Amino acid sequence: MKMGITNPFKDQSLSLTKKLLPWTLYVLPPIAMLCLYFKPISFTPSSATELPHSSPITITSHSSLSFISAPSTSPPPKEKEKAYEKPCDYSNGKWVHDMKGPLYNDTTCGTIKYGRNCITHGRSDTGYLYWRWKPRRCNLPRFEPPTFLQIIRNKHIAFIGDSVARNQLESLLCMIATASTPNLIYQKGEDNQFSRWHFPSHNASISLYWSPFLVQGVEKSGTKPYNELYLDHVDEKWGRDIDQMDLIVLSFGHWFLLSAVYYENDSVLGCHYCPGLNHTEIGFYDVLRKALRTTLNSIIDRRGTKGNGIDVIVTTFTPHHFEGEWDKTGACAKIRPYRNKEKKLEGMDAEMRKVEIEEVENAKAKAREFGRFRLKALDVTKLALLRPDGHPGPYMNPFPFANGVQEHVQNDCVHWCLPGPIDSWNEIFLEMMKMWE
Ligand SMILES: *[C@@H]1O[C@H](CO)[C@@H](O)[C@H](O)[C@H]1NC(C)=O
Ligand SMILES: *[C@@H]1O[C@H](CO)[C@@H](O)[C@H](O)[C@H]1NC(C)=O
Ligand SMILES: *[C@@H]1O[C@H](CO)[C@@H](O)[C@H](O)[C@H]1NC(C)=O
Ligand SMILES: *[C@@H]1O[C@H](CO)[C@@H](O)[C@H](O)[C@H]1NC(C)=O
Repeated sequence: MKMGITNPFKDQSLSLTKKLLPWTLYVLPPIAMLCLYFKPISFTPSSATELPHSSPITITSHSSLSFISAPSTSPPPKEKEKAYEKPCDYSNGKWVHDMKGPLYNDTTCGTIKYGRNCITHGRSDTGYLYWRWKPRRCNLPRFEPPTFLQIIRNKHIAFIGDSVARNQLESLLCMIATASTPNLIYQKGEDNQFSRWHFPSHNASISLYWSPFLVQGVEKSGTKPYNELYLDHVDEKWGRDIDQMDLIVLSFGHWFLLSAVYYENDSVLGCHYCPGLNHTEIGFYDVLRKALRTTLNSIIDRRGTKGNGIDVIVTTFTPHHFEGEWDKTGACAKIRPYRNKEKKLEGMDAEMRKVEIEEVENAKAKAREFGRFRLKALDVTKLALLRPDGHPGPYMNPFPFANGVQEHVQNDCVHWCLPGPIDSWNEIFLEMMKMWE
């Protein structure tokens, strides 16, 4: 595949409306990020198996790829949202210095593994650990593991989504583990993409379901150059277990940027970046919307009227910070957060978040008919946007500069170091649950 900074849709660009053009460019970064997504980083508790992906990953044919930032023609973000009728809007604020530092470290948390464990991998600047999220009109309390455990007593929490969902689960487990030790009770799938932990102290369970599209999908492989998404069916890998779940955390988005063919009602709806196939380019925003709508509708249908009810949290899209090329030193080299005015939420990041928030609001209206269904967005897009310093970068692999600083080094500017900023997502998560209690 020939790529570069040219628009991959050049030949078809006349047929694309202006509205569609901005996202056509977004296909490029994710292709490079495949190296991160197709080789998800292993996360196994200390007793568990060897890393399945310990060999270095090389995608030489993509090495000349450069990252393109949001074109200036992007539609302006519609940020003028009504002030929420909530006790506190945690989604807007700033990062402030906090000398207290994280709840856990790599020696206390037996569950941080390869790829996210920046300190163990030799990251020596530790300034990124000493920031606290300060919402504009209130304070966000530090995470209280005993309170969290109390709330999830006798419950089963399921994280469903992609490797960012897994990242958030890892952070949560590490924090709770400071108060109560989890037992790994189930592990299955390539790279343990399906796992479950049990906290005997509170009879609480937390599990992970790999389902990057939420709906039924076939991931691309050697013989299949495009993902396939079936937008009208949820992925039964998690759907079939829904009767056992009390709280679902959905976190997804980055996989929707990849080239894919979309199906609805057994026929092709269109595709995203599928040159060579005679399908209509439809981008991914509407597809993300359909996938989330199918998912939420299905949860309401299956659980809205029976059992003890179910709660759903949708973690909003978290921007990546590839500010250089993914395989070059310095791809995400910042060591402090952006100040509030320094970085605007715009372009694709704003659009992905908007779709998610809108679908949560749509489903909420439906959920009002059912007394046993609660739903909320965990709106962390802005928090994440302001933290270019929180990614593993080259420290996704151990001691990347052991032989001096090389020009080429693989970077992860998508996931978050543990401990790190993603711990704050879970602080907000806890506050949301406290409000529900
Ligand atoms: C990690 O945390 C433990 C327990 O709080 C503490 O004893 C230890 O010194 C910490 N290690 C580092 C490297 O900070
Ligand atoms: C333990 O939690 C599960 C849900 O995860 C629940 O079905 C079961 O009833 C609980 N056991 C007790 C003894 O409360
Ligand atoms: C698929 O079926 C649903 C329900 O019958 C309908 O609302 C929707 O418009 C259909 N989609 C397409 C692309 O035909
Ligand atoms: C592509 O699809 C269009 C519309 O469905 C059809 O008219 C055309 O013949 C197709 N071209 C090829 C090469 O299949």
